[in-house]
Amino acid sequence: MSIVHDITERKRMEDERINSKLTQQKAILNAILDTQEAERKRISEALHNGLGQLLYATKLQLGDMHPEKPLEKELQTSIDNLLNEAIKETRQLSFELMPSILRDFGLEAAIEEICKRVSSSKIQLQCEVLGLKDRLDEILETAIFRICQELLNNIIKHSQATEASIQLLNQKTKIVLRVEDNGIGFDPEKLDRTGLGLSSIRNRLQLIDGTLDIESEPGQGSLFTIKINKNKLK
Ligand SMILES: Nc1ncnc2c1ncn2[C@@H]1O[C@H](COP(=O)(O)OP(=O)(O)OP(=O)(O)O)[C@@H](O)[C@H]1O
Ligand SMILES: [Mg+2]
Repeated sequence: MSIVHDITERKRMEDERINSKLTQQKAILNAILDTQEAERKRISEALHNGLGQLLYATKLQLGDMHPEKPLEKELQTSIDNLLNEAIKETRQLSFELMPSILRDFGLEAAIEEICKRVSSSKIQLQCEVLGLKDRLDEILETAIFRICQELLNNIIKHSQATEASIQLLNQKTKIVLRVEDNGIGFDPEKLDRTGLGLSSIRNRLQLIDGTLDIESEPGQGSLFTIKINKNKLK
């Protein structure tokens, strides 16, 4: 009897030790993600308000110049085009780092915005968001937004897809995010371990009790399904 009790007690202590270690790891990961988001926000604002404004002021001053020689006029146009590119790049970088639209208008607006930005002549991106009239918790909004960003980056980088879609459903008990493409697919069992994207998605999901399921095979496109159980969120 006492041996059984001893083993049960030892098992209980071991479980407790593992649980406390997991809680500690989650706290560390949370702190890292918080710091990362704060730093991204700082750089995003510096790019938008500092560099972006400077480039814009340079463009305005260039417009005030009225060169007479054709060669100088040509040069002015070419500098103006370069400045336009630089302003566009700065805005894009600032958006990717921390879209103010996410903070100000929430997930639905931010996801629609990425869809607009990603759609091009090469890839058509459909976007559907349902049940998200009210704002979600900031941690959850940021996590879902970063996950969408990474999955879309992967589609653009690896899939060669011509069509892709994002569907985000906010249901009573869970949030479901589906990201799909009609590209070259891959074998999820044989992942390139050097990539950080999918493992960082899994790490983020651990913190909010979410799961990632990948359905893909070479030649068949890919479907990524994320489920977040709302009951487990505090
Ligand atoms: N939509 C997709 N279509 C085809 N292959 C994909 C797709 N998404 C992921 N993959 C494959 O899965 C691998 C792992 O993706 P992951 O995001 O973890 O890493 P990565 O994109 O290679 O690098 P990182 O995200 O660190 O820049 C990719 O290298 C690619 O081979
Ligand atoms: Mg990636």
